[in-house]
Amino acid sequence: MLKNSIKYDVLIIGSGAAGLSLALRLAGRLSVAVISKSSLGEGSTLYAQGGIAAVLSKEDSVEKHIDDTLEAGAGLCDEKTVRYVVEHGPGAIQWLLDHRVPFTLLDKDDASKGYHLTREGGHSKRRVIHSEDATGRAIETTLQNQVRNHPGIQVYEHHLAIDLINEAKLGLSGNRCLGAYVLDKQADRVRVIAAGNVVLATGGASKAYLYTSNPDTSTGDGIAMAWRAGCRVANMEFNQFHPTCLYHPKAKSFLISEAVRGEGGKLRLADGTRFMKKFDPRADLAPRDIVARAIDHEMKRLGVECVYLDITHKPADFIIEHFPNIHARCLEYGFDMTRTPIPVVPAAHYTCGGVITDLSARTDVPGLYAIGETAYTGLHGANRMASNSLLECLVFAEAAARDMLQQEERPEIVAQLPAWDESRVEDSDEHVVVSHNWDELRRFMWDYVGIVRTTKRLQRAKRRVDMLAMEINEYYGNFRISNDLIELRNLVEVSDLIIRSALQRKESRGLHYNLDYPEADSKQLKATILKPDIHKGAGLRVASSE
Ligand code: FAD
Ligand code: SIN
Repeated sequence: MLKNSIKYDVLIIGSGAAGLSLALRLAGRLSVAVISKSSLGEGSTLYAQGGIAAVLSKEDSVEKHIDDTLEAGAGLCDEKTVRYVVEHGPGAIQWLLDHRVPFTLLDKDDASKGYHLTREGGHSKRRVIHSEDATGRAIETTLQNQVRNHPGIQVYEHHLAIDLINEAKLGLSGNRCLGAYVLDKQADRVRVIAAGNVVLATGGASKAYLYTSNPDTSTGDGIAMAWRAGCRVANMEFNQFHPTCLYHPKAKSFLISEAVRGEGGKLRLADGTRFMKKFDPRADLAPRDIVARAIDHEMKRLGVECVYLDITHKPADFIIEHFPNIHARCLEYGFDMTRTPIPVVPAAHYTCGGVITDLSARTDVPGLYAIGETAYTGLHGANRMASNSLLECLVFAEAAARDMLQQEERPEIVAQLPAWDESRVEDSDEHVVVSHNWDELRRFMWDYVGIVRTTKRLQRAKRRVDMLAMEINEYYGNFRISNDLIELRNLVEVSDLIIRSALQRKESRGLHYNLDYPEADSKQLKATILKPDIHKGAGLRVASSE
């Protein structure tokens, strides 16, 4: 059965910094739809704290930002991409200023002095522009208001993309992306959205881990959908763990920004001893992989549940002025950071790998782009430097927009696509399978594929993920879909990619640390690239298109 689809020139899946900035760049010139599986503002961007890195002061330079990024990336950054992003950084910040994002001034009574720049791990200079300690909120709410009010952008909230529709999966020759199947969660029905170009801006996959700084949206949907559509993915073994999330049973891994260390915060054990110098001469401002591993090491060595972040030596006014939101949130949990050190632990924070894209954000599948955390551009290599992520979102949204606007002919929109077919499935009476498997997956990923890995633990994780994949595919084949089922299916797919990539890398580098191969090996100085097999009908629940 064919379906008359809703159609747009561009379908953007995801509404974080990447998706919203792309929508605003295209609106008015192409017809644009933005779909978001939660409310429009929800996603990692909303929670970003520290800021955005860019060369914005005379003491800094493009070469220094490039060098710091390459150093953090531990030999695996793509230098062309790093240069491209760093050179486009100041323009990206100017675009945000033009869109009235309220960054913090150096002197709030004198705008002519410019903006306050903070420092974070791995940065040799102050170059992180921010909006107090809630930069993501300032960006997301500002852009969201403009997207909502733009007549050229159609917003679909609470719409979950299930799968991409591409020619190969429909058994046609070629493999152009033609649109997506989308679950309207409120109406509980599947819509078919056709588009000339489709953009994945779905964020990362840190929900694969039990403890994460990320919101519930980070389930790797874009990476899993792209993989099923025929895109290669790279460097999935490089999962970044943020060293300092608040340790409190109710805090849901609330992040304590690296800017706290940038402004002088020190890590200490319970008895007050500082320990970071033992691990790296840059001490508390070493790149994240080193700090997270050092904390993990100390916690395991001493059998303790957290370490402490101490900024009490700074005046209380300074702390409250620089970190008003973190200060208030910690107070809610009974910690006054102006007087006592904050208990902290590492948590999964950022997915460095993703869907392989070029400098125009194109993927391997014609008509399909990927931007933001879901993409692998080569910028981060084996370890992302703090505050380079929002920058990457903005720079590649601009690159994708330019590429689409320069296309000589608008791609044809195939409006008659096969309808979603639920005639062969039934309502589930076994929802416990989904909730149980969610918990199981996230726990073994944390225990076996976390900050410190061994080959045996990875092999154990592989056996478990294979079993879950079998169960979930069977369940998917028999029962009506739900939000939790779709997200779990994607998380299982992405976890499998993480484990396979981690097993392939027989060395320790950047964020991937394997006790069986504790040293870096110069012969393995290349990205881990996985290639999918695609076959007709994979993942699509459609009736025959004849
Ligand atoms: P997101 O902002 O995560 O948005 C993804 C969007 O896709 C959401 O709207 C989501 O609902 C939607 N979506 C996902 N799947 C689907 C689907 N199947 N169908 C429909 N919609 C879907 N980086 C920095 O550079 N500086 C910082 O200071 C910083 N601080 C951070 C603090 C925290 C607590 C966290 C979690 C991250 C931080 N990061 C920071 C990282 C950075 O925030 C993210 O990498 C970045 O915001 C990702 O933006 P994005 O647009 O790619 O994805
Ligand atoms: C933070 O504020 O520590 C997060 C910065 C980042 O993830 O880039």
